[in-house]
Amino acid sequence: MLEQLTKRRTQYALGRNIGAGEEAIDEWIREAIRQSPTAFNSQGSRAIILFGEQSQAFWEIVRNELKEILPAEMLEQSLAKVDRFAAGVGTVLFFEDQRTVHDLQQQWAIFADHFPAWSEQSSGMAQLAVWATLANAGIGASLQHYNPLIDVKVQQMWDVPENWKLRAQMPFGSNEAPFNEKSFMPDEMRFRTYR
Ligand SMILES: Cc1cc2nc3c(=O)[nH]c(=O)nc-3n(C[C@H](O)[C@H](O)[C@H](O)COP(=O)(O)O)c2cc1C
Repeated sequence: MLEQLTKRRTQYALGRNIGAGEEAIDEWIREAIRQSPTAFNSQGSRAIILFGEQSQAFWEIVRNELKEILPAEMLEQSLAKVDRFAAGVGTVLFFEDQRTVHDLQQQWAIFADHFPAWSEQSSGMAQLAVWATLANAGIGASLQHYNPLIDVKVQQMWDVPENWKLRAQMPFGSNEAPFNEKSFMPDEMRFRTYR
């Protein structure tokens, strides 16, 4: 497991040179989310998995929304980043179902304050599971956050239920560049073990 987790890195240089087919990738992503833990096994994580032209359409929404808000001097760089995400094979949109959060709050009043945070934590676990699963299949990915800028357009385009809240976007594809060097802060600042 640790070896597998170590393979997961941020990859911005994406391409379409992957051996795996869309059906297999789709099922890996679904299974990674199914197997991820959720508070009270509430299974509030949702995903929309986009391949090919559907993924392209998603990144076109991002481009159009960025054009609306960014000043010219920032726009060029941001659009260049988006082009790299769009150059991949697909994109996973991660949502959390707010109805699930609400229902849990009704059902378990003493934990009511916790459920929004637990929903976010569950989403993070699902994101990591998908990212690591893709990495172990040799597929590169990164984690992006263009929400809430794009939420309305995404909702219209893919008929997303209103209670699904977009939390993250994960473009994926072939690894077209080595991963960046990663440094680690000293263990003494992060961990304590008592025995
Ligand atoms: C909660 C969270 C939010 C992140 N948001 C972004 C993001 O918006 N854009 C991005 O390029 N990377 C994002 N990342 C990825 C981190 O920048 C990246 O994981 C970190 O720099 C370590 O690099 P690695 O993924 O190669 O291990 C996010 C990661 C986490 C855990």
